[in-house]
Amino acid sequence: MSGRIPREFIDELLVRVDIVDLIDSHVPLKKTGNNFVARCPFHTEKTPSFSVNRKKQFFYCFGCGASGNAISFLMDFSHLDFVEAVEDLAGFAGIEVPRESIEHQPAQKKEGLNSLYTLMEQVAAFYADQLRTSTEGKKAVEYLKNRGVSSDCASDFMLGYAPDEWQALATRFDQKLLLEAGLLVSKEGGQFYDRFRGRIMFPIRDKRARIIGFGGRVLDNSLPKYLNSPETPLFHKGKEVYGLYELLKKDTKPKKILIVEGYMDVIALAQFGIHYAVAALGTAASQAHLDLLFRFSSELVFCFDGDKAGREAAWRAMESAFSTLKDGRQIRIMLLPQNHDPDSLMRKEGIDGFTDRIQAAETLSEYFFGHFSNELNLSEMEGRAQLVNKAKPYMEKLPESVFKEMMFTRLKELSGWTGLDVLENKATLASKQSPKQYSRTSGKRPQDNSRLSSARVAIALLVQNPRLAELLEQREIDWCGLEFPGAELFKNILRMIADKNPANTAVLLECYRDTAEEKSIKALALLDSQVSDDKIEAVFCDSLDRLLTQARETALTKLLNKGKTEGLDAQEKELLRKMLTVKILVLNNRNL
Ligand code: GTP
Ligand code: MN
Repeated sequence: MSGRIPREFIDELLVRVDIVDLIDSHVPLKKTGNNFVARCPFHTEKTPSFSVNRKKQFFYCFGCGASGNAISFLMDFSHLDFVEAVEDLAGFAGIEVPRESIEHQPAQKKEGLNSLYTLMEQVAAFYADQLRTSTEGKKAVEYLKNRGVSSDCASDFMLGYAPDEWQALATRFDQKLLLEAGLLVSKEGGQFYDRFRGRIMFPIRDKRARIIGFGGRVLDNSLPKYLNSPETPLFHKGKEVYGLYELLKKDTKPKKILIVEGYMDVIALAQFGIHYAVAALGTAASQAHLDLLFRFSSELVFCFDGDKAGREAAWRAMESAFSTLKDGRQIRIMLLPQNHDPDSLMRKEGIDGFTDRIQAAETLSEYFFGHFSNELNLSEMEGRAQLVNKAKPYMEKLPESVFKEMMFTRLKELSGWTGLDVLENKATLASKQSPKQYSRTSGKRPQDNSRLSSARVAIALLVQNPRLAELLEQREIDWCGLEFPGAELFKNILRMIADKNPANTAVLLECYRDTAEEKSIKALALLDSQVSDDKIEAVFCDSLDRLLTQARETALTKLLNKGKTEGLDAQEKELLRKMLTVKILVLNNRNL
C-alpha cells in the first residue's frame, strides 16, 4: 500500500485548481452572470440547470441536485473513488501527489504493480488460447456449450482454460511474479506448482479493464467447485465484484445493477441480454462493494436463491445495505423460487419473465419489515417490543435522510412504541438544521432572502465566506446558554474553520466529506442570500446581531421564568447575571 495523501495537499489542490476550468474541460460551460452553466452531465435535460460558481468553487444542478467541489465532480463524472479523483485533479493541475510516510520508494512499487498487471494479462491470454486451441481445452468448450454459453459470450468475458498440469504457468512466466500474483502455490522444499489446473478460467477485471484475479471452475462434480485468486497486491475480494468491467462496457450509467451470487449467473444473464449483473466473489456483498456499485447506478437489486441459504444471505446483506443508503439511493431485494439460481431461471423463463421479476422485486423497506412480520407475532406486545429491539440497530445505521425519518415513522406505526419519538426527533432535527434540499424533480430555485431567518443567513454567509470567522473571533462572543435554530451546526462550522483555516467554500466542504453534516453544509453553500460582494460583511454582522439578540432574549426569558417557578441554581444565577449585564451594555450602546 502507498501512504496517505496529506490533507494539506488536498486543500492546496482545491485552491490551486479552478473548478470552472476543470469542469469546462469535460463539459463546455457558458457564462451567465456570476455563474457558468451547462446542460447537466448527471441527468438528461434540454435546458441547462447545471451551474458552477467560481467564487465558491462549487457546482450544483437545480434539476437533479448533484453538487460538490472539484473532487466530487471528478468522482461523479469519471466514476472515480476519492484517491483516484485527487490523483486525476493533481494531473489536471500538473503536479505530483505526495504520500505520507512510506519506507519503500513509491516509484518502484508502482513499477511492481505494472509488471503484475502485465503478467495477469499474459496469463489470461494464455488461458484463452488454451481454451480455443488445445485438445484438452475442447473438453472445456464442450462443457460451456452444454451449459448454453455462446462463443461470443465466452469471448466477452475472456473465458479460458487452465491445463491440467502442475507447471503450465511456472515454465512459461516469471516465477517470482506468478507467486506474487497468486497464480502459484508453494509446497514444502521450496517447490512451486500452478494454483489453477484443469479448470475453466474466469478473469476478474476491475473497472479500468485490468485483470486483477481469476476464478476457476472444475468441469465435473469434484470439489472444490470454484477456486479464486487469493488476496494479492492487485486483488482484494471484499472490494471487487465480478462482471463490472463487462457491464460498464455495455453501459456506463446503468439504470440499475443486479447483484447475483455466481460467476455463471453473471454470464448467463449477459448472454440473454441482461448486461447489468455483477457477482460478489463468493462473499456477502460488503459496504465497499455497495459503495463501488452506487458510483455507477442509484439502484441496486440484490438477487438471492430462494432456498434457506439464500434467504439467510439476503438478511446478512442488510447490514451493509443500511449503511450505504443515502438519499437518492435505492436497494431492492429479489428472492428467486426454490431450486433456482438466476442462470437456471433465465433459461426457463427467458428475458421477459426474468425482467418482470426484477421489476417486482421488493423494496428494502417492504422486505425489512416483512421479515420481522414473518418472524415475530406483532399482535402481542412482546412481539412488538422485539420488533423495536431488533429493527432499531439496523435503522440507526441509515445516514440522515428523509428515508430514515420515514423508516422510523413506519416502525412507530408497527410497534406503537412512542418512546421512538426521542429518536425520531433526533433524526428530524438534524435534517431541519439545514435548509432542505430543493426537490430533485421540481427544479425550484432557492428561496428569496426575505424569508430566510437571521440564523440561516449568517450560517450560509459563513460557509460561503469562511474568512468571516475572523469577525467573530474579534467579537469574543459568549455562546453559553444561547439557543437558536442551527446553533450546533454554527458552532461546529466555527470550530472547523478555526481548526482547518479553509481558503474557500470548496476546501471547507472537503473537511466535511462523509460526515453527518456534509449535506447541510452543501445546502448552505448553495443558498442564494443575494448579497453583493461589498455588502457581505455588513449583512453578516447585521444578521449575527439580530440572531444574538433573539437568542439572548429567548435565553433570558427562559431563565427569568424558571427563576419565578422553580428557582435557579448557582450556575444559572451566574448566567442570568452575565446576560443582564450584556443586555444593559447593548442598551447603553444604543442610547449613545
Ligand atoms: P455453477 O454451479 O457452475 O452454476 O456456478 P455458480 O456460479 O452458479 O455457483 P454457485 O451458485 O454454486 O456459487 C456461487 C458463487 O460462490 C460462485 O460463483 C463462487 O464465487 C462461490 N463458490 C461456490 N463454490 C465455491 C467453492 O467451492 N469455493 C469457493 N472459494 N467459492 C465457491
Ligand atoms: Mn449456478
